Amino acid sequence: MSDDTSHSRPGTEVATVDEERYPVPDPGLEPHIPRLTDVDERAANRATRQVATFFGLVPLLSIGFVVVYFAVPGNVWVDFGPLRANTRNLLLGLTFGLALLFLGIGAVQWARKLMDDEEKIDYRHSAASSDDDKNYMLTELDKVVDESKLTRRKIIGRTLLAALATILLPMIAGLADLGPWPTKKKRAETIERTIWAPGIRVVQDVTFEPFKPEDIEIGQLINAEPANLQDLHGSEYQIEKAKAAVIVVRMDPNTIKIPPSRQDWQIGGILCYSKICTHVGCPISLWEQQTHHLLCPCHQSTFDLGDSGVVVFGPAKRALPQLPIALDAEGYIVAQRDFTVPVGPSYFERDSRDDYEVGDK
Ligand code: FES
Repeated sequence: MSDDTSHSRPGTEVATVDEERYPVPDPGLEPHIPRLTDVDERAANRATRQVATFFGLVPLLSIGFVVVYFAVPGNVWVDFGPLRANTRNLLLGLTFGLALLFLGIGAVQWARKLMDDEEKIDYRHSAASSDDDKNYMLTELDKVVDESKLTRRKIIGRTLLAALATILLPMIAGLADLGPWPTKKKRAETIERTIWAPGIRVVQDVTFEPFKPEDIEIGQLINAEPANLQDLHGSEYQIEKAKAAVIVVRMDPNTIKIPPSRQDWQIGGILCYSKICTHVGCPISLWEQQTHHLLCPCHQSTFDLGDSGVVVFGPAKRALPQLPIALDAEGYIVAQRDFTVPVGPSYFERDSRDDYEVGDK
């Protein structure tokens, strides 16, 4: 590496070194050692082909990703000994991962083998640029473009352009996974309903045991599910569980406020609420027996279960939806119907009316 004084600009004032203050002289740059590709045109051509090959593989892999995305069914599995993988996910990961890898390798090889690697010194000068300086800069820019070998080795520029343009394809194709367009009808069939229905037993989470009022003590909280969740499997089970999860709490009826519209939604101080926070949907069960407050661990939204689940603190804007409950012929706790308002976080199309008043009807 060498001190490239030929790059000094007209009018540049080079700072003088205060030798008393800085007794160690500036060692300058080491001489530049040319690489094989700097002196051997065949080696440079070989490196060009390598870079172009890596960039050229990116469009093929990106298009491969899109083909796999739409052509390979999501229910095909492949076994690797004791491990099992979803074929579609495996191929999507391989195609997109290799596309990014080859784009990176191509860029690194280009920089290491073909771009100019000579270090240069550019001394500080006054902030305002003269016309000479501007012209110098434009000349330097031209030189940088030339040194990148983009003008001489056009195939690198073309393949890089194709690689950058097509690397976006997998991301655009992935937008299809955002789900169906949320029309009013689609929302009513999906996020605005749960599998709770008249007469569905409220059962304990995990064990699916039904329970009666006498099984719950005052101050106790039970994590619960609808009994019909047991009939579902796979992703359908997960989706419905995420919406239908509830908590059942028992409080002293004399210490809580139950509005007239909700008197028949509870059984002697036993109330059932959605377990899904109305802020951004975390499951909640941090229960303060004395205050009747339910705290969400994610962002500390706090709901008063002794007052229809209204928000008393935190970023949530809607009360926790309450599930109307009753007893069946055998004395077990059951749902009277589905929730009267959608559970979970708010979203664009969601009516901003107050659930507490409107949901009771
Ligand atoms: S998800 Fe509950 S407070 Fe944010």
